[in-house]
Amino acid sequence: MREAGVNLVSLGIFSWSRLEPQEGKFDFAWLDRIMNLLHEGGISVDLATATASPPPWMSHAHPEMLPVLADGVRLWPGGRQHYCPSSSIYRDGTRRLVDALATRYAEHPALVMWHVGNEYGCHVPACFCDVSARAFRKWLTERYGDIAGLNRAWGTDFWSQRYSSWDEVLPPRRTPTWPNPTQQLDFMRFSSDELLECYEIEHRILTERTPNIPVTTNFMRFFKPLDYWKWAEREDIVTDDVYQDPLDPEAGMHAAMAGDLMRSLGHGKPWLLMEQSPNRVNWREVNAPKLPGQMRLWSLQALARGADGVMFFQWRQSRAGAEKFHSAMVPHGPTQSSPTWHEVVQLGAELRGLDALRGSRVPANVAILFDWESWWALELPSKPSNRIQQVAQLEAFYRPLFEANVTADFARPTDDLSGYKLVVAPSLYMVSDAGAANLAAYVEKGGNLLMSFFSGIVDVNEHIRLGGYPQPFVRVLGLQVLDWVPLGDSEKVAIEFADAGKGSNYRATGDIWAELIEVHGADVIATFASSHLNGSAAVTLNRFGAGTAQYVSTQLDPIALENLVRSACARAGVSPVMNVPAGVEAVQRDMADGSLLFLLNHGAATVEIAVPGGAVSLNGGKAMRDGRLHLEPRDVAILRRSEAGAPA
Ligand code: GAL
Repeated sequence: MREAGVNLVSLGIFSWSRLEPQEGKFDFAWLDRIMNLLHEGGISVDLATATASPPPWMSHAHPEMLPVLADGVRLWPGGRQHYCPSSSIYRDGTRRLVDALATRYAEHPALVMWHVGNEYGCHVPACFCDVSARAFRKWLTERYGDIAGLNRAWGTDFWSQRYSSWDEVLPPRRTPTWPNPTQQLDFMRFSSDELLECYEIEHRILTERTPNIPVTTNFMRFFKPLDYWKWAEREDIVTDDVYQDPLDPEAGMHAAMAGDLMRSLGHGKPWLLMEQSPNRVNWREVNAPKLPGQMRLWSLQALARGADGVMFFQWRQSRAGAEKFHSAMVPHGPTQSSPTWHEVVQLGAELRGLDALRGSRVPANVAILFDWESWWALELPSKPSNRIQQVAQLEAFYRPLFEANVTADFARPTDDLSGYKLVVAPSLYMVSDAGAANLAAYVEKGGNLLMSFFSGIVDVNEHIRLGGYPQPFVRVLGLQVLDWVPLGDSEKVAIEFADAGKGSNYRATGDIWAELIEVHGADVIATFASSHLNGSAAVTLNRFGAGTAQYVSTQLDPIALENLVRSACARAGVSPVMNVPAGVEAVQRDMADGSLLFLLNHGAATVEIAVPGGAVSLNGGKAMRDGRLHLEPRDVAILRRSEAGAPA
């Protein structure tokens, strides 16, 4: 580990059956040895609470603690994460284990962080058993007070679903056809909260026993089942697991987006890349290796996007078990002949030279609105089209920003948006009254909003907001949507943009969805030029108060969307971090006494970049000549600029 520059180790994540081989009987001897060994080697420990995989004795004695799917199938032990989040057997077991661990290691000098559970909800995001049903009812009672409140919120007069007592209420188990949509939405809210309560049970014990040790649990990028906005509030540091697919041509963009989300979840605080693979994984259909330099590229990219550290799953590749073909820092064969090991060692050495970035912040002038509850609601069944998917819609707008090297944060509609020059709202289907009012006030006070189709449709109960779509934004946008026109798989609509600048029009296409719009004061920027929508507005721009609100009623083709996003940035006064050749990502981190400019070449060609005056390279600088930087494919340069661009 010292050879690889390791200074932090996540320890014991799946070791409950070792730590507590029988109920109430603990064996810490092996863990003591490893904790001491690491400490003597100058390595700190992110100690796991080990609660992600209950030991076989527990489910053997209490099979009722096993999780149950919506169709009644029980999930058995033999894998991992086989617990019902509401089970008192599981929860009591975690209390006992975490209490014993925290008591034993509270004063251990190697302990610097607690790692609670592991990837909550990864395999079992929800349980539909009778115990869960009781917990769901309790959660609903707290939300609605009485059964009449629940009946109103769930709209139970539809299909004769009116409940006369709480005992009749169930999780949305498998039904002949769609279960009640608000029941489904509330069950997603409940299931995220119920797992969060499992985390909280452990968190409370840990903060009591070790008030100065930060607590985290590892996230999984855009993981649908858990509302990470809520979760992140309960963490001292946000940590994330990122497993890019080397076969994904947009892997760089996807990881950047995940990094921006993690930074935003912590409100700009540095986060930690908790897990990535040194080389290939074992769980895809085809597990392609990382190309030489790719692991370094993606590691340094996490730093660029606001991480203060980079870790791996896993240290040593196992001989046995389900993950023996997953790569590790230490491979099955000799380290000396392993290219992966050499890359790991090099990265360790390089990270040692980057201490200056710790604690620095990534500035962003653009916010993309993203709300888990709206995501859940948007993707419930029985919509005008199932082709509007939340993450794809976020990506559609993130992509041109990424390609233009404009850094974006993610934010909720209710967040303080006043610091952003541009706010993008991709298909924000569900919005609370407070969120809608906040967005309107943002524009009124001079903000710039860019909103896309099927936004503002329902309230938090998933009831349609009546009075003309998108009701809460009709005035802000200066239009009303009269009808939706979902498009078939291969169907496209033609669009004509009036290009005022060049005095000529240009054509684009729309995909997935279109809308029939009645303009109430907004300027028409583009019109549909085919189908029955011919001549009606496709893209509009409205002035509202001191700000602007742009609306896009279809999924524009990538070039048209890129033009639109670039012009929205220009209008809002948002400029790129730096103009660099295509394929190069440029991100900035601000320190107290200057900034760090990350230049990451995701492309397949060597590029030349004119380096800003006064910048010095922190990682080698080998390629700097005549103020120009030669960046090979997958290479990264980190340039330090002191205050006001003067030489550092
Ligand atoms: C993560 C998990 C690790 C390991 C890894 C394999 O989801 O936290 O325990 O399974 O995936 O890629």
